[in-house]
Amino acid sequence: MADFSNQSVESKRQAMQSALDAANTKAQRNRLGQFATPYPLAVQIAEFVKSLMPVGRKDIYFADPSVGTGSFFSAALNVFGMKRITSAIGIEIDPAFANTASKLWESFGLKVEQGDFTNVIAGDSCPPRPNLILANPPYVRHHHLPREKKDYLRSLTRKLAGVDVNGLAGLYIHFILLATAWMEEGGYAAWLIPSEFMDVNYGECLKKFLGERVTLIRAHRFSPDDVQFDDALVSSCVLVFRKSPPDPRHSPQFTYGGTLSHPHIRHLIPVEQLRQARKWTAYPRHANNDRLASIHDSGPTIGDYFRIQRGIATGDNRFFILDRADAMRRGFPSQYLRPILPSPRFLKTTRIDADTDGFPLIDRQLCVIDCDLPEHLVEERHPLLWEYLQMAVTGGIKEGYLVSRRSPWYRQEQRDPSLFLCTYMGRGTNERRPFRFILNRSQAIGTNLYLMLYPRDALATMLRAHPERLVDVHDFLMRITGDELRGQGRVYGGGLNKIEPGELARISCRELLEKWPVLAKGRLRGCYALWE
Ligand SMILES: C[S@@+](CC[C@H](N)C(=O)[O-])C[C@H]1O[C@@H](n2cnc3c(N)ncnc32)[C@H](O)[C@@H]1O
Repeated sequence: MADFSNQSVESKRQAMQSALDAANTKAQRNRLGQFATPYPLAVQIAEFVKSLMPVGRKDIYFADPSVGTGSFFSAALNVFGMKRITSAIGIEIDPAFANTASKLWESFGLKVEQGDFTNVIAGDSCPPRPNLILANPPYVRHHHLPREKKDYLRSLTRKLAGVDVNGLAGLYIHFILLATAWMEEGGYAAWLIPSEFMDVNYGECLKKFLGERVTLIRAHRFSPDDVQFDDALVSSCVLVFRKSPPDPRHSPQFTYGGTLSHPHIRHLIPVEQLRQARKWTAYPRHANNDRLASIHDSGPTIGDYFRIQRGIATGDNRFFILDRADAMRRGFPSQYLRPILPSPRFLKTTRIDADTDGFPLIDRQLCVIDCDLPEHLVEERHPLLWEYLQMAVTGGIKEGYLVSRRSPWYRQEQRDPSLFLCTYMGRGTNERRPFRFILNRSQAIGTNLYLMLYPRDALATMLRAHPERLVDVHDFLMRITGDELRGQGRVYGGGLNKIEPGELARISCRELLEKWPVLAKGRLRGCYALWE
């Protein structure tokens, strides 16, 4: 074996990595989840794992199931030294990366196998079990996995790891479970992965696995502002665990922000607590954690007082949504034009009043074409609208996924206007809220960039009796803190937050109840247009 006495090979690797990245488009790299681990981070991860191992342990059997150009192997050489690494294997699907890794590291003891890890692991010639895995698995979302591949992965993971993986899980979840099944009992693993599994439903199986089947030692979440890979839209975390069942009194360390070696916050969280927790990003609980969930875990929530529904997906906003003035100029019949709000980017106000036609009093009034007449009647009665609709036929819009499934294809999903709306995605750290709430007194509905909130039950009854309280309710919604909103929603790389109806529904409404105890009364349903 060659001597890894300096960093020249690592420098060469970094140059080759850049050349390979440049040779592929972003779409190609996305397809295989090709985002390399920055070397300093790979070294920190290797150093942390080394600090857990018994001093003097020599017999390291290293593996990286998606080795790329070998950032982790290079870090392992640097941190453990070549003498401690008895064997090393890297698996890589992309021949260009596999060849590069092989050329760079073969003489240092890395055996590179070109192939799909999920096939290699299942085959008869499965390589010997490692006792150290350092990995950054491909981040390939489930909808980029062909159906047969997904079925294959689910049945393989069930067979080898005994885990039923949700069909919406990305490839990396299978990688962790399969690689752990492959690893030696007592071995250590560190995984650099997107942190979204901590919050979303399809992450449940992994959380259960980490809480019950292995000893989770550390979960470090980087701050979403500090994207680890400049060009991958994910916020990441590092998981470190030992393959051995956890002691029931065990408490993994959850850290957040800063670096793996110098996190901003650290707390020990008992496994028992983790098993019960719905969202792991709330740990460590600290004012500086951007995902601090609501401190009121019980009591009324937004879902108790509002029905929440996503705004409409038109299938092609540029075609179906027009300036109201433009639609009138074109002579479209007004009964088939519904007021609709502009995208949140262009909506500068948070309180909207209506003109006499129910359109919002804002700079740019928009309308959406929404017509239930069959085609022959539109053609006969509204030739100008018919002529416009023909452009959707020639432009392929009519064949689109959503549009082609509607009947008639120019009839929109039906929504009543709602008194309140919440923007569906946005940025915002610390005090700044990622989402805005809008009080809407117009007849406008929202697109799917908004969640529509319809007061219901006791709240609807109260607001009908006291419409002046609408403003108080809006003020309450505007006071929900950024931490609470982020804590219930989910975060993507670069700090983009999104919130789904079910997540918004979980935010505490205790303050409303304290202000108006009448809201504690039973569920009385009202049914005005703007209400449920
Ligand atoms: C996120 S990159 C990490 C590369 C390297 N380990 C690092 O840390 O820089 C994931 C790598 O997995 C490879 N890959 C994608 N699907 C794979 C599969 N099914 N089996 C093995 N490797 C795969 C990609 O080509 C890519 O090189």
